[in-house]
Amino acid sequence: MKTTKLNTLDIEKVRQVAAIKTLEVQALCEIAQLVGAAAELDTALSEILRVLHDTLRMDRATLFMLDETGKRLAIKASYGMTEAEKGRGVYKLDEGVCGKIFRSRFPFVVPDIKTEPLFLNRTQSRGGRVKDKISFIGVPVILRKGPVGVLTVDRVFESEVSFEEDVQFITVVATLIAQFLELDSILKRKEEVLVEENRSLKAELNKRYSRHNIIGQSKVMNEVFRLIDRVAPSRATALLLGESGTGKELVARAIHQAGTRIERPFVKINCAALPENLLESELLGHEKGAFTGATSFKQGRFEMADGGTLFLDEIGELPLNLQAKLLRVLQEKQFERLGGSKTLTVDVRIIAATNVDLEEAVKRGNFRADLYYRLNVVPIVLPPLRERREDIPLLIDFFLRESNERNKRRLRLSVEAVDFLKNYSWPGNVRELQNLVERLVIMATGDWGKVSDLPSYMLAEPERKIQEETGLPKTIREDRWEPSVQPNPAGAFLKDMERDVVENALIRNGWVQARAARELGLTQRQIGYRIKKYGLVPS
Ligand SMILES: Nc1ncnc2c1ncn2[C@@H]1O[C@H](COP(=O)(O)OP(=O)(O)OP(=O)(O)O)[C@@H](O)[C@H]1O
Ligand SMILES: [Mg+2]
Repeated sequence: MKTTKLNTLDIEKVRQVAAIKTLEVQALCEIAQLVGAAAELDTALSEILRVLHDTLRMDRATLFMLDETGKRLAIKASYGMTEAEKGRGVYKLDEGVCGKIFRSRFPFVVPDIKTEPLFLNRTQSRGGRVKDKISFIGVPVILRKGPVGVLTVDRVFESEVSFEEDVQFITVVATLIAQFLELDSILKRKEEVLVEENRSLKAELNKRYSRHNIIGQSKVMNEVFRLIDRVAPSRATALLLGESGTGKELVARAIHQAGTRIERPFVKINCAALPENLLESELLGHEKGAFTGATSFKQGRFEMADGGTLFLDEIGELPLNLQAKLLRVLQEKQFERLGGSKTLTVDVRIIAATNVDLEEAVKRGNFRADLYYRLNVVPIVLPPLRERREDIPLLIDFFLRESNERNKRRLRLSVEAVDFLKNYSWPGNVRELQNLVERLVIMATGDWGKVSDLPSYMLAEPERKIQEETGLPKTIREDRWEPSVQPNPAGAFLKDMERDVVENALIRNGWVQARAARELGLTQRQIGYRIKKYGLVPS
């Protein structure tokens, strides 16, 4: 049997090769472990290149990938290069060694980069080491659809490793990188499908939970939708009742739009916004010279709304004298302009709204009973937001979408923030929620809104504390533990709520009435009236 005797040099070489093979296996093991981080592609790629450097002393390991033009190779990941060097590493497909490897789909070895004319060294990252003999090895990265990039490494010339062995090893690494890329594109495609699915589901939900552009899925809001559908096609007068910001004007417009008068005008007048004499001429119009300052004829809102809808907002603030005149127009559908003798006939559908307890006002003699009954044909009560908390996430979603679009942002709220808002008392109702979302979107610095981003008056809400202690919202506590002894519990309850809303707004605004009025969407006259009515004073 023939035996080969190895001399000492040969033994040393075998040892070195074995050591390198061990390192290669170790490198592959480390790279394999990075599969878990594949969802963060850029990090995973940089890590692979770092492993090449740390275990096998391969310098400037670089992954070039086709850029979005499909005409150039640019650095996707690298190890041991500055940002400036990376920026310079862009090659056309017909340029240099990288271009050649990409087009040919074959590995390429430059034993000594100083003597290879094709080697462009565009990144200029090898400045300090040109006295060493640097070899360069590049292999293509190939996916099923074809080549997508090139993986390159530098080696300071070491005689103990043959280039073939290096090429073989780097080809294995390039194959692993291709797997990472494939995985990433599968994940991205799946994510795109999910995002699209999510978007269309949300749009579908929105359609389902919003009718007439009014968001809500709660039982009470479904009842509101039912009433809108019932009343809209008729000419019946609707009376919208609810706290400030609950959506009374929105519902008034919805009734108009869902009815047969949609082609005709929707005219609004705020009965609290004008002094009595001006309000009368706004409603009925006036002839030229009807009073000092009436320099020309003016059409009133009744005439403007002929054939359409007249929305009498804040009807509870209408002075008694005008209540009588309004009643006549409603009953006879006829009136005269101020200073005029001609009787005009109009066909107007009336929708009135108020956040005042009209029944209570009738009892006190502030509102005419006959007008109240004339208006209260189809009452629609808009529940305060705290009584339909299940609608809060839907509303947040709706306003976020609107506000993000308007402000070109992508804010979302954390689960904790949405939970917090679900439990907040919302004295300003939907308007307060809408304003809050707009404020968060404008002020946000990142993509996620957290509880700590909410305004301090919300976080400090005393009601929260009690609720946390009892586990019950205020309304339920009151219902259970303090049964009302009033002759009209519902009316008294509404009054209590209004008192709370106004007082809280005043506290939040440091008792500056104008600011509190603005927050609640009231006029100064209205808030002044309520402060007096409830005897509110700073404590
Ligand atoms: N259910 C809802 N879905 C979507 N937006 C709503 C909803 N309710 C109210 N809003 C929005 O909230 C804001 C306040 O609503 P609106 O003006 O109709 O309230 P209001 O009851 O008339 O208040 P006020 O008594 O203060 O006049 C509006 O911008 C409205 O579009
Ligand atoms: Mg309103």
